[in-house]
Amino acid sequence: MRKKFFLISGGSSGIGLAIVNDLNKQGHQVVSISRSQGKIDRALNEMPHLAGKVDFYKADISSQAEVQTIYDQLNNKYGVLHGLVNNAGVLTKGTLETISVDDWRFTLDVNLTGPYMLTKALLPLLRNASGASVINISSVAGLKPGTSVAYSVSKAGLDMLTRFLAGDLGPYNIRVNSVNPGLVRTNIHLDNKVVEDNDAYEAMLEKARPRYPLGRIGSPGDISGMVQYLLSEEASWITGSIITVDGGVMVENDLIPPK
Ligand SMILES: NC(=O)c1ccc[n+]([C@@H]2O[C@H](COP(=O)([O-])OP(=O)(O)OC[C@H]3O[C@@H](n4cnc5c(N)ncnc54)[C@H](OP(=O)(O)O)[C@@H]3O)[C@@H](O)[C@H]2O)c1
Repeated sequence: MRKKFFLISGGSSGIGLAIVNDLNKQGHQVVSISRSQGKIDRALNEMPHLAGKVDFYKADISSQAEVQTIYDQLNNKYGVLHGLVNNAGVLTKGTLETISVDDWRFTLDVNLTGPYMLTKALLPLLRNASGASVINISSVAGLKPGTSVAYSVSKAGLDMLTRFLAGDLGPYNIRVNSVNPGLVRTNIHLDNKVVEDNDAYEAMLEKARPRYPLGRIGSPGDISGMVQYLLSEEASWITGSIITVDGGVMVENDLIPPK
């Protein structure tokens, strides 16, 4: 199999780390970008086999200057990118009345402007691959209002970015798709202080579980499986799709009693 080059934003934790690990297992060269050394250390502690194999770069996807530096580094080192997974994201709490304007801007900057800037900056490298795949990790909260207005709006915007770019970049044979997970067990709620502690997190998962027809909360591997497929040549005629990977939570309605 031909070795390929992939960039995964937010590859130091949760869903991104599972994607990084699965691509590394297949022998591909993977670069992750994320902000904090602490999460990179936590990832390497959990998966020590990735040390020296995966490039864990430190950069903030909401900074135009840092995104430009990532482009320069990848251009100098590889000159081509076969796949970009816009996975990095943040979660903030709040409804219209309770969210601050700062939190609104922060959420939109990371979850929506970040993927836009990264895809735009890396376009020359994606074009060089003659058949690249871009995947935006969105959410079911972008399809149906969730509990955070900024988060839902950022993910709905991301889905439109997917559809717009699919039309825009199709002529370069670049495919663009969204993967929209339901609730997945990761560090996102605790790291973003959306729940107070581990007990509150477990209680939240337990409360949500009955709404999932398949009877369980997702694992990062569930999402990575779809991402691996969309990155592969088997998916070469799929673009502009918004694909839920959600244990069936989107079919839940008032007529189906929770189990
Ligand atoms: N877990 C769920 O239930 C769920 C459900 C639906 C959708 N999703 C989506 O799935 C994606 C991954 O979530 P996850 O649950 O795996 O979260 P996670 O465990 O918190 O991981 C998020 C990753 O993104 C990085 N990141 C955050 N802000 C960044 C920034 N400004 N620049 C660069 N990297 C940044 C984090 O590292 P640093 O903080 O060190 O930068 C970390 O590596 C997100 O887009 C999330 O919205 C998750």
